[in-house]
Amino acid sequence: MWRLTRFGEIVWGWGSLSYLSQLKGSRALLVTSRGALKRLGFVDKAAGYLAEGFGEVRVYEGIEPNPRVSTALKLAKFMAGYKPDTIVALGGGSVMDAAKAAWILYECPSLSLEDVIRDSSLVPRLGSKARLVAVPTTSGTGSEVSRGCVLTDDETQVKYAIVSLNLVPTLAILDPELPASMPRDLTADSGMDAMSHALESHASKAASDFTKPLSLSAFTTIWTYLRRAYGDPSDREAREKMHYAQCIAALAFTNAGTGAIHAISHVISVPLGLSHGRANAVLMPYVVYYNAQTCPDPYLDLALSVGIDSTEEDVGFELASALLDYNKRLGIPQSFSEVGANERVLISRVEKYMSYILGSAPMRTNPRSMAAEDVKEVVRLAWSGELG
Ligand SMILES: [Fe+2]
Repeated sequence: MWRLTRFGEIVWGWGSLSYLSQLKGSRALLVTSRGALKRLGFVDKAAGYLAEGFGEVRVYEGIEPNPRVSTALKLAKFMAGYKPDTIVALGGGSVMDAAKAAWILYECPSLSLEDVIRDSSLVPRLGSKARLVAVPTTSGTGSEVSRGCVLTDDETQVKYAIVSLNLVPTLAILDPELPASMPRDLTADSGMDAMSHALESHASKAASDFTKPLSLSAFTTIWTYLRRAYGDPSDREAREKMHYAQCIAALAFTNAGTGAIHAISHVISVPLGLSHGRANAVLMPYVVYYNAQTCPDPYLDLALSVGIDSTEEDVGFELASALLDYNKRLGIPQSFSEVGANERVLISRVEKYMSYILGSAPMRTNPRSMAAEDVKEVVRLAWSGELG
């Protein structure tokens, strides 16, 4: 038996940020990060739109990349004091995920984040106090339509995912004008995160006839347009296609799940000083090569869709090689040794959190089963730059 989740409402198009002016209420809270969005004028623009339909609008700017549990707690405390009826998360995955986590605590003060990290099924239906509007400013995480929310533990730097249908934002606004200003590295990293969502959800054990058209179309579009958006940041068509494709990839993964790339990345990206998308990009060829040895079919679909004419026997090597080449064109390292990681430290980190990696939700939908030795071997190869 399978099921396709609800997606919330999605509004898209150039200039669709102005849709915020159509929302009505008493108190709106605009959650965002510090820095570029403010400088580019998007925070003031969004607040101005909200002021048309709300009695009061406040801006909360304290969300950092890879948001920590403590950041979500502070935001929830602010929400409890201000009592918004609409929360607008304007930013990348970090802002949207922090807002989702704080939304849980605002709606249900009796819950703790420890509770819902341990058991996501405790997240109740949300929205009785406030709706959550997600406005992504990067083209990557798809958090605006996903049921996931990832927080980083303040001490261990492990990323914990809370996964619940009740975390799907009420409304997503996809305005390509916002990511069109992304710097090139962020374009590359967030785009490769989206590619990993498309690829992993397509190969997932939970992929279905309903999700595969989404994941395949997202993968093909990202493969075509990410290079263009990176090469020419002013390419409006590429920016638009990327922004919609990353959302389509998220519609696929929020139903089909991801896989070993995400399971491993959640443990190593922060201590390596890598963004989530960059760690995924480095891992991707090595995980594809490993998985395709026993489960080649979904990878053959993906390879053929981007013009790699392969066979079941060769697709692992050929798609992995093409991904290494793709990374190179985006200025992404080929291996963890290239980013200066120490092999012994990296492997001991993986060993320390092995039970978390093997038991995590992404690993449960990886197409090929992995034991501890398999995980270590894939990470070793990703460190050395050898496919196997
Ligand atoms: Fe991701």
